[in-house]
Amino acid sequence: MTQDEMKRAAAREAVKYLSMGDVVGVGTGSTANYFIEELAEWGGAVGAVASSEATASRLRNCGIPVLDLNDIERFSVYVDGADEINHKLEMIKGGGGALTREKIVAAVAQTFICIVDETKVVDVLGRFPLPVEVLPMAASHVARAIRGLGGDPKIRGDFVTDNGNRILDVNGLSIKNAVEMEQVLNNVVGVVTNGLFSNRPADLMVVGGVKGVKVARA
Ligand code: A5P
Repeated sequence: MTQDEMKRAAAREAVKYLSMGDVVGVGTGSTANYFIEELAEWGGAVGAVASSEATASRLRNCGIPVLDLNDIERFSVYVDGADEINHKLEMIKGGGGALTREKIVAAVAQTFICIVDETKVVDVLGRFPLPVEVLPMAASHVARAIRGLGGDPKIRGDFVTDNGNRILDVNGLSIKNAVEMEQVLNNVVGVVTNGLFSNRPADLMVVGGVKGVKVARA
């Protein structure tokens, strides 16, 4: 089984957790793209909330109405991939640069289902460089602050987020306490969001693997 087949299998399994007439929050990235295809084939969602412009465009192309998050108080399920996920269902996200909108949409969902292939499951977060979205004028200041925390930040080339901001990819941070690190980074002035999803971890992890799909709760 290839990695893409494992992603597809996890995406297909996630549809089983939806109910007819649901509004569904949809993440960003290659695994989320498989989920969009599965969602369209299922046909039971009345609409979706998108975590990026790319996802909104894919949803519309599949005929799924894209709703404004400001018009919704709460919806039932958010489905998204991750760059890493641990056994507490804390994640590193933002490899695709959509971390801020992903975190906002996840905050409004009752249930967060993380869909990954088995290569994404880790014991300790941090091998994948941690993305940090920063206001452009604050990039150097935030980079200095992160070096002070023991990290090694690199600006992500010319990449600009959907919100007009820049991304620092950070290696070398010791993320033993993800909840604490998420808060510390968010307290650096100029940081918009960091890619640690630990204050609001996933509720369910659906893992596609060579031996089939496994589901775990925290
Ligand atoms: C997007 O910004 C990310 O948070 C993605 O959810 C993450 O990078 C996983 O992407 P893939 O499904 O493409 O591996």
